[in-house]
Amino acid sequence: SAPSPSPPMVERPATVDDLPWWARGIIYQIYPRSFQDSDGDGVGDLPGILSRLDYLVELGVDAVWLSPIYPSPMADFGYDVSDYTDIHPMFGNMADFDCLLAAAHERGLKLILDFVPNHTSEEHPWFQEARSSRDNPKRDWYIWHDPAPDGGPPNNWLSEFGGSAWEWDEATGQYYYHAFLKQQPDLNWRNPEVVRAMHDVLRFWLDRGVDGFRVDVIWHLIVDDRFRDNPPNLDWRPGMHPHGRFKPIYTADRPEVHDVVAGIRRVIDEYGDRVLIGEIYLPIERLVAYYGTDLSGAHMPFNFQLIDAPWDARHIARLIEEYEAALPEGGWPNWVLGNHDKHRIASRIGRAQARVAAMLLLTLRGTPTMYYGDELGMTDVPIPPERVVDPLEKNVPGIGIGRDPARTPMQWSAGRNAGFSTAERTWLPLADNHAVFNVETESADPSSMLSLYRRLIALRRSEPALIAGSYVAVAAEDDALAYIRQLGDRRLLVVLDLGSRPYGLPLPNGFERGRILLSTHADRTGEPVDGEIVLRADEGVIIEPASGA
Ligand code: NOJ
Ligand code: MG
Repeated sequence: SAPSPSPPMVERPATVDDLPWWARGIIYQIYPRSFQDSDGDGVGDLPGILSRLDYLVELGVDAVWLSPIYPSPMADFGYDVSDYTDIHPMFGNMADFDCLLAAAHERGLKLILDFVPNHTSEEHPWFQEARSSRDNPKRDWYIWHDPAPDGGPPNNWLSEFGGSAWEWDEATGQYYYHAFLKQQPDLNWRNPEVVRAMHDVLRFWLDRGVDGFRVDVIWHLIVDDRFRDNPPNLDWRPGMHPHGRFKPIYTADRPEVHDVVAGIRRVIDEYGDRVLIGEIYLPIERLVAYYGTDLSGAHMPFNFQLIDAPWDARHIARLIEEYEAALPEGGWPNWVLGNHDKHRIASRIGRAQARVAAMLLLTLRGTPTMYYGDELGMTDVPIPPERVVDPLEKNVPGIGIGRDPARTPMQWSAGRNAGFSTAERTWLPLADNHAVFNVETESADPSSMLSLYRRLIALRRSEPALIAGSYVAVAAEDDALAYIRQLGDRRLLVVLDLGSRPYGLPLPNGFERGRILLSTHADRTGEPVDGEIVLRADEGVIIEPASGA
């Protein structure tokens, strides 16, 4: 067979050491505006993050992914980049960045940046040039089109943030395409100059020493070059997200996108040991295509199945098995429970079940990605109308897709502004309950969510079977989900109660006599089990066979 661009991963790793760092480790997403403010302006910044690195080390995560920190007019809070190779002054400067990177590396932490290649800010000099005239050399760096015969937009493509995806440019008499805000014009990845310029952006940061990228909306990078209308979505109903009116078959997940991803991957592979993660919301069979032919694509196409799935044992068991079955040979799995675009897990399923979800995330096969604050059980914070800042909520109000509630400041202590900032007013309000749910208070309480996360992470780090072991389905019935992780002779059984009633499960072969290693309820460590495990409501346990073998 043809040689693959980088050595394929060992299909059944014999030890954890056979895995690259990003497969062994845990990723922690920081939304920089909300982690720690160091200068009292009410917005988090890089020196703030630096001052909290030891917290992350103590928590036990391995890598930090930062949402965008680049210069930006902040129409979409940094996902509208006006300079790809600098730092927004609100976050600090390049020296602050270098300090943060060095400090992370000193502590053995990896640092992953957010790469936003689908669109720039309208204030990016490239777009300023492109819109200056039709014959500007950068015109074709973006996607322009003449109006339809009636003068309206060229086709029915819709923006994810409401309305048409086409914006009329009066001065040059054409429309430009924007998959998101009109302040975020889409780059034209069919233009080789764009490809070169964006590859150089990656090299700029890789040369500085970053450990990889999370790539924003990587499945959007190419749109149909014939600009065909998207077909109607017959399942769409009024009250749903207006973007769902049409099936985005010509605006996302186009076949040519895989060449673009492979091109980005080749740049990553010029440097050793870096990671390429892609943000992709697609059904499993389409998602796994982003590993690329012969694994020439993303190392990890983000797997958001748990974010969107109903919280139901059979459903989750099925999606785990479908995912496991769909992975290409050598493709490494990953799991995500939350991010800055979705409701927090503790709000979606409640704080009690969020503990079960933590155990699920940290015992499944594949790299876990955590969202800052979820380890505290942070919930969505209701935002009073006058404090809404998310452009998505402003453009598409009232249907519950606003993202401010999940982006509120990290809760460090019971003190003023939860220890996040000394400002009079923080950019988003603090949760009412921050005096209860915060790092300081929870650290002192062995039954807190934070203590649970710390124990789960410590166990995962010390149990190669949880990292490199295979996944063996055991049961999915009513509210119970059970599976085994196995590496060599070491087998661990995970049993989760996804409901609010107690549940008894006969122990599978080899576990008839066992011992509880960890319970979500903090009080059963070391308890022997015999024949059956009885879970309390909202409980999850990890069991080892009595022999310890
Ligand atoms: C996905 C990002 O996660 C989201 O926050 C952003 O608004 C869109 N991409 C547009 O960049
Ligand atoms: Mg600040």
